[in-house]
Amino acid sequence: MGGFKTIKVDKDIPGVCWITLNRPEKYNAWNYQMYDEIVPTLQSANADASCKMVVLTGNGKYFTSGNDQNNFTNPSSADRFASFRDLIDLLIDMAKPMIALVNGPAVGMGVTMLPHFDLVIASDTATFYTPFTRLALCAEACSSYLFPKIMGYSRAAEMLMFNKKATVQEMLDWGLVSRIIPSDGFQANTRAIVKEFSQLNNDALAAGRQLIRSQSIRDHLHKVNRHEDQVLQELFAKPAALEAAMQFINRKAKL
Ligand code: COA
Repeated sequence: MGGFKTIKVDKDIPGVCWITLNRPEKYNAWNYQMYDEIVPTLQSANADASCKMVVLTGNGKYFTSGNDQNNFTNPSSADRFASFRDLIDLLIDMAKPMIALVNGPAVGMGVTMLPHFDLVIASDTATFYTPFTRLALCAEACSSYLFPKIMGYSRAAEMLMFNKKATVQEMLDWGLVSRIIPSDGFQANTRAIVKEFSQLNNDALAAGRQLIRSQSIRDHLHKVNRHEDQVLQELFAKPAALEAAMQFINRKAKL
């Protein structure tokens, strides 16, 4: 595996598949190529007996600015959410423990995917922003179910419906983030943490993830993913969502 254009995959810590989102000039927005590179990387981490855990982080200032807006305005297939939906199905079913290292601001799916990780460690420069209704869109990645469970209905609604940009301290207090690490030294310090975790017993770690995310929970999450996808498709069939995406593409609006 190799030759990636949108991600970097490092395996120098034994047992760790370390994935770095690597489009810093686009704040690590998820274009189709990024999906096409990450999905097989995650699948092979699952199949690799020597892989104990997966790490996801971002290169540069941002963790990720979310879905690349070009995915919506210029879809590669009629089903413009297929790559996203499939990625979330895979995250739900990941066998290996996953750690997110949120190195900076996270937007959209960069926030909503986090509950699928077992540990979320964030830099003190991170912010968490899900401006879905500003884009005439709705909750995704099972956040409509998982956010209320993690942080309560009102806080979830403030984020998912009323576009609150949350601070890292709020996310720690509300339960989405488990630890804050200063941005100064973030890389070296998170690497040391991961290295320490990589010493843990492989089978016991995987068993822990499977117990916390039991089959019945995962079955339910797949249903939620389908339902959110259906609502997203319905919203995108109306003009407002395409107009909002075009506003960004044409540099008429930022979020
Ligand atoms: N899709 C595509 N390109 C994106 C992007 C996204 N989601 N987010 C950032 N970029 C690109 C910008 O187009 C710009 O590229 P360019 O220099 O080639 O024009 C570069 O990343 C830097 O972004 P810019 O907007 O210049 O930085 P900023 O600091 O002024 O604003 C944001 C940062 C995140 C507020 C702004 O980029 C934004 O609103 N992005 C859209 C986020 C979004 O819609 N996410 C998806 C769903 S919620």
